[in-house]
Amino acid sequence: MINFDFDSVCVLSGAGISAESGVPTFRGGGKSAVWKGMPFDEISSAKMVKENLDEVWEWFDYRRGVLKECEPNKAHKALVKLEKTVDDFLLVTQNVDGLHTRAGSENIIEVHGNINRSRCVVCRKRFQMQSHHVPHDPSKCDECGNKVRPDVVLFGEMLPSGAYERAVEKASGCNLFIVVGTSALVYPAAILPEVAKRNGAYLIEVNPEETPLTAYCDESLRGKAGEIVPDLVSNLIA
Ligand code: OAD
Repeated sequence: MINFDFDSVCVLSGAGISAESGVPTFRGGGKSAVWKGMPFDEISSAKMVKENLDEVWEWFDYRRGVLKECEPNKAHKALVKLEKTVDDFLLVTQNVDGLHTRAGSENIIEVHGNINRSRCVVCRKRFQMQSHHVPHDPSKCDECGNKVRPDVVLFGEMLPSGAYERAVEKASGCNLFIVVGTSALVYPAAILPEVAKRNGAYLIEVNPEETPLTAYCDESLRGKAGEIVPDLVSNLIA
């Protein structure tokens, strides 16, 4: 167990932290998500936005429909507690479900965007959607009349500028880095724990399964986020 005074904490979360809230993960458990016979990295791609935006919206509306019923779980809430206790804290999430914010996290970067936002494909005006309104609304931009698309990062797209750089800066400077519920396969987010480790941070992973990161970790805590993270946080702030 960690035996030094940490004062700067960075957390990277992935789909696994929301699994116990009822949000399906993309990979893991030997399966990967498929929508109408298409792997998710095909339907969630920049190419599909160009070729068949209606179908992209069908998939995102389906996911928004699943999320309507989901609530933040004990792991999301425990991270809020940690944030309140540590002066220098940043949560970087790959999740687009908004559950961290609903739990009360404030210092957070959603590197892959948010499923309840859309943006115009032409003028890029952003729209906040009502999470309980499925299907999405609006479907046209009120500024220029063009179609809107989900405001999330899709396969084949760059991360929004600025956000990732801020995450790298924090990862390089923190002395404790916690990775929760990610397969650590999608770059560049998966680089953050490596950056932290290279710069001397203590690295803890919470995941029921091994990941490519496991070998670099100082501690690998095997199990579900909702069970492990609350205990981990209690130990850290005791
Ligand atoms: P994945 O679906 O790739 O991985 C989920 C991870 O969560 C796996 O390693 C599981 O073992 C783990 N897991 C499952 N249940 C868990 C639980 N109860 N507690 C803790 N861990 C659990 O999800 P991500 O790594 O988040 O990108 O995927 C990264 C990105 O790939 C996503 O953000 C998404 C996808 O393409 C975009 O949409 C751009």
